Amino acid sequence: MVDLSVNLAGVRLDNPVIPASGTFGFGEEFKDLYDLDILGAISFKGTTVAPRLGNPVPRIAECSSGLINSVGLQNPGLDAVIAEQLPRMRSFFHKPIIANISGFAVEEFVTLAERLSREPQVEIIEVNVSCPNVHGGGMSFGTDPKSAAEVTRSVKQVSARPVFVKLSPNVTDIVAVAKACEEAGADGICLINTLLGMRIDIARRKPVIANKMGGFSGPAVFPVALRMVYQVSKACSIPVMGCGGVASADDVIEMMMAGATAVQVGAANLVNPYACKQIVEDLPKRMESLGIEKLSDIIGIIE
Ligand code: SIN
Repeated sequence: MVDLSVNLAGVRLDNPVIPASGTFGFGEEFKDLYDLDILGAISFKGTTVAPRLGNPVPRIAECSSGLINSVGLQNPGLDAVIAEQLPRMRSFFHKPIIANISGFAVEEFVTLAERLSREPQVEIIEVNVSCPNVHGGGMSFGTDPKSAAEVTRSVKQVSARPVFVKLSPNVTDIVAVAKACEEAGADGICLINTLLGMRIDIARRKPVIANKMGGFSGPAVFPVALRMVYQVSKACSIPVMGCGGVASADDVIEMMMAGATAVQVGAANLVNPYACKQIVEDLPKRMESLGIEKLSDIIGIIE
């Protein structure tokens, strides 16, 4: 029997496979497709203090090997997540929940972390300083090491749970941002969020996305994500959740060899709603064929 369990800043996961925030909602649309308790954890949709309707449509542009989204953090807001979504999730999901939080001011991140980290199902706070689709918050916090550190420090002061900071790849020096978060007290780093991208409808002579630009994700970004996971895990001593273009058990193993302790699956859920199930089922078989008994043994084995 192979061992898939991992330890994420003190939180034990049965396996490292986690649907990424924004690609799995609050689990509701997936719960009738398969038993979600086979997952390591779920990172729920980026939640803000106030409810948000999101950006104008079209919000999605298909690309070869990926897609661009400009959802704009559509979510029901903090009160509804606590009063409705979390109780609903309790009926069908019994593994750790990762609360992905987004704000437009440091105080909003603080409010979100303070309240959500006291919900019994929430075991990790994921601070999203990397959404490219909103103005006056989102990515602007995560592209400057000082701002990322300020958010981290403030959230750490109030959070009852480990704090992971989800970083943007839209920077020249990812290590500088990650190290600033680590020095500010982060318990872990999650990377990468989406790469800022754009498509043009040449017949309409207009951008495909109403907001012109959006975040690019999918298999095409995997090598970029892997490189950043490698760089950050070598430079920092806190755990890293790898995210970006992961679509198979082999991708999970590759991310872990690069330094990830757990791995988030994003765009693949939009192509195949069974993607995470398939990966969880394939992992033990691939481990056996590669001679891996304990998955945590391969974390960061690449020098
Ligand atoms: C969005 O809601 O626009 C995507 C969230 C993100 O990229 O963080």
